[in-house]
Amino acid sequence: MKRRKHAWRLIPLLALMVFVLAGCSGALDPSGKTGEDQLFLIKLSFFIMFGVLIVVFALLFYVLIRFAKRKNQKDIIPKQIEGNHKLEIVWTVIPFILLLILAIPTVMLTFQYGKDYTEHKDALTVNVTAHQYWWEFEYPEQGIRTAHDLVIPTDKKIAVALTSSDVIHSFWIPNLTGKMDTNPGMINKMYFDAEEEGVYKGKCAELCGPSHALMDFKVIAMSQDDFNNWVASMTAPDETVTVDSEGGASVFAAKCLSCHAIDSSQRSLGPNLDGFANRETVAGFRPNNEEWLRKWLLDPQEVKPGNEMPNVGLTDEELDQLVEFMKTLK
Ligand code: CUA
Repeated sequence: MKRRKHAWRLIPLLALMVFVLAGCSGALDPSGKTGEDQLFLIKLSFFIMFGVLIVVFALLFYVLIRFAKRKNQKDIIPKQIEGNHKLEIVWTVIPFILLLILAIPTVMLTFQYGKDYTEHKDALTVNVTAHQYWWEFEYPEQGIRTAHDLVIPTDKKIAVALTSSDVIHSFWIPNLTGKMDTNPGMINKMYFDAEEEGVYKGKCAELCGPSHALMDFKVIAMSQDDFNNWVASMTAPDETVTVDSEGGASVFAAKCLSCHAIDSSQRSLGPNLDGFANRETVAGFRPNNEEWLRKWLLDPQEVKPGNEMPNVGLTDEELDQLVEFMKTLK
């Protein structure tokens, strides 16, 4: 009875487990060689730990039952023994072997995926810069800077060089690769690949401020041909906008251009908006539709607290024009 009364205490623990497992679900469903190798390590360590757990608990319960005090038993101090060579060898050698089984593939794969492929001819290099709270992707060979959507070809090594412009963030694509920190003033390198075309979710996995949980990105994996077309469209010359332009372009030039470039070859303070109309999201985590674009432009702090975009003060007419202009950024 007493035991049941306290069973409710298990609920938070169960809830936590559900959350942890939900978070891992991407890692448990890998697409690509990197993700598969990392899942192999997860499984290997899980089954070894589980095996040890089963053996230890089986022995524990055996001892508890076999050597429990019997009714009418008077002499409860067992025969005293000291040292047992056979047993000592067994419980030293077995863990040692298990440790070797665990360590050899772990160390090998850790070094393998930490290899620098950024200069390699068979890899696509992307310089990733984390910002509070968005991701910047630069393709140095293609001369493209973009944000929020990491566009990659399938079946190719994607070599990333990771850094941060402010605090420590962590780059994580559960279906494709484990986490790696982005540190200001440092460049951390790793590589991964995607086998199947599709859109994969990316996350910031290091508490970095009030909008940490909203610091998402998307990985868009496509065939090499589609990727080449994307590169061509991003590098095609863009219309230049000035305050003397017509309609939304002039609003953009007056209110947005000081922080946002619309030509993918240019560096800008905020996310580069070239190709914005084709992106999956507004602000990196909301669906790219007119409703969210309007909310974002009117009150960016409400949508993503603590980000660096100010409320630029748009009239209704300016907002309408700006939204129409944003839809032309392809
Ligand atoms: Cu960036 Cu959490």
